[in-house]
Amino acid sequence: MYHRIIFLLLKASLAHAQSSSDSGHWPTATIDSGVIIGTTAVLPLETGVVHKFLGVPFASPPERFRPSRPPPPWESPYNATIKYNRACYQNYIYSDDTREKLMNLVTGGAPPPEESEDCLTLDVYAPAPATNETKKAVLFWIYGGSYRTGSNCNPNYDGSSFAANQDVILVSPNYRLNVHGFPGNPELKAPDQNLGLLDLRLALEWTRRNIAAFGGDADKITLIGQSAGAAIVDMFISAPPDPLPFRAAIMDSGQATYNGAAASPGWAWNSLAEVVNCTGNAIQVYKCMRATPAKTLKRASENHVIWFGPPVQDGATWSKSPRRNRLNSTEENPLMARVPILIGSNHDEGAIYTTGVTSATAFLQSHYGLSHASAQALLAYYPIVPGGNITSEEDRATAVMSESSFTCPARFVYEDSTTAGIPAWRYFFDASFANSELVPGAYHASEIPLVFGTYDRDNVTTFQIQVSAAMEKAWADFAKNPSEGPGWDMAKVAVFGGGATPGQGDDGRPVMELSDVNWMDARCFLYEP
Ligand SMILES: *[C@@H]1O[C@H](CO)[C@@H](O)[C@H](O)[C@H]1NC(C)=O
Ligand SMILES: *[C@@H]1O[C@H](CO)[C@@H](O)[C@H](O)[C@H]1NC(C)=O
Ligand SMILES: *[C@@H]1O[C@H](CO)[C@@H](O)[C@H](O)[C@H]1NC(C)=O
Ligand SMILES: *[C@@H]1O[C@H](CO)[C@@H](O)[C@H](O)[C@H]1NC(C)=O
Ligand SMILES: *[C@@H]1O[C@H](CO)[C@@H](O)[C@H](O)[C@H]1NC(C)=O
Ligand SMILES: *[C@@H]1O[C@H](CO)[C@@H](O)[C@H](O)[C@H]1NC(C)=O
Repeated sequence: MYHRIIFLLLKASLAHAQSSSDSGHWPTATIDSGVIIGTTAVLPLETGVVHKFLGVPFASPPERFRPSRPPPPWESPYNATIKYNRACYQNYIYSDDTREKLMNLVTGGAPPPEESEDCLTLDVYAPAPATNETKKAVLFWIYGGSYRTGSNCNPNYDGSSFAANQDVILVSPNYRLNVHGFPGNPELKAPDQNLGLLDLRLALEWTRRNIAAFGGDADKITLIGQSAGAAIVDMFISAPPDPLPFRAAIMDSGQATYNGAAASPGWAWNSLAEVVNCTGNAIQVYKCMRATPAKTLKRASENHVIWFGPPVQDGATWSKSPRRNRLNSTEENPLMARVPILIGSNHDEGAIYTTGVTSATAFLQSHYGLSHASAQALLAYYPIVPGGNITSEEDRATAVMSESSFTCPARFVYEDSTTAGIPAWRYFFDASFANSELVPGAYHASEIPLVFGTYDRDNVTTFQIQVSAAMEKAWADFAKNPSEGPGWDMAKVAVFGGGATPGQGDDGRPVMELSDVNWMDARCFLYEP
């Protein structure tokens, strides 16, 4: 036993001393669990070689409803050369039409992954050679998907372009979802209700311990997430691990300051237990839920429209008062992580959810629980103007959803941060392209392939290439030097894409333009807290 512990400690210290290097074709890295073998990639039109370590376990196969733990060490080198299409259990509870579009977003058009409870792996994309002592900045990517869907298998999340073109490392972990990640079981003690967040904390610790072996600097980690992933980034900010494991944060189309926890905590857990016939006292129900096959839990929650998440505001993994703490935060009494942030959203976030809406009033009633009168009062600010920005009922619903759930919360978090003396930069994405137009407009998640440089190369436009390069560089520059920002004046909003639309020429269209009039915020007074 004693020797084994010494051996583990030795291995752990080696992880920091050794960098990955080419052994033949296969790059290797020595991490605290042992040696891993990766693979290399050269992107078309790029000269920089990328080292990819795929499907590296950062945890043991998790026990259901229990916090994840680090994996045991392995003796022979771990083969991390193949990207298996495997995800944590997913849950699509939407109507068929929306479901298909969302699946496309979540999988990036790839075949849906195989689902498993044994899903706690991460991918590392690092520039090669990684032998240099120069410690690279690290992006820690947290995918979105409403706490119900998403995985690091989405080809749009491939970090190769970031590594090859921006000289940064991208780490992309999976985390548990649905009843497995966010059981919200009222009988469980605080952080155990948010197991998915604990998975990410473990992956972040893994990154701190091991990233030097890939040429990274553990003190240069930036959290980056989109949608629910951005909300999780904000949760990390609100209740940071100590010592602070990251030094900056990027939030694409999401935050966790202006939208609360689940309306009725425990509802999903109790509903699912009932459907799968787990009865009795709390302990009996818990044991029964642990024994029920995962596929049964999945089918039951999909068929009965039972959704898990958002996480529980437990005070441990998510502050109970994120807004008040941010506003009250000072250097002396931080109350949260006072790291520089980059936050923004897209012009038509809601468009993916509003296809075919013929009455914005009815949409707001069913989706936001507004009364007929309140819906109409709100929509008075969203008149249909022929030839204007809002020309249909669908546009009205899209605009309300985009502004209330994304644009205005991004503005509020940005404003609260600067008020508290925390450096904050804001962007707004406004473009759509023929080769990626799932629905018209700059819809939810449509900026991701541009930020990651993973957009479809078929029928690409020159302007699209330029917008992608500018966004990827801004995000990476921010990670490299957060206090200097992504490259624009903190007081302005950087608008990317200039409203590009398929079929319109791009002559004279600005790739990035600084806006100080905040035209996108004109109606935010409607949503002020
Ligand atoms: C890794 O596994 C794949 C699939 O089994 C195999 O083709 C490949 O040769 C292995 N690579 C190494 C370096 O062991
Ligand atoms: C490491 O990088 C520095 C600065 O970029 C360079 O001067 C040096 O030659 C590099 N060393 C190796 C071993 O690549
Ligand atoms: C639960 O019990 C009902 C009634 O006995 C049965 O129809 C149903 O199939 C059961 N559900 C599961 C998931 O076992
Ligand atoms: C924090 O802010 C709230 C208002 O948002 C205020 O009532 C409270 O006194 C503040 N607390 C501290 C410690 O400053
Ligand atoms: C309509 O959108 C354009 C850019 O897409 C913007 O310049 C203009 O200010 C918008 N008008 C309103 C009223 O929001
Ligand atoms: C590219 O354009 C061609 C010709 O218009 C079309 O057939 C093809 O589907 C397009 N591909 C994509 C990915 O949009």
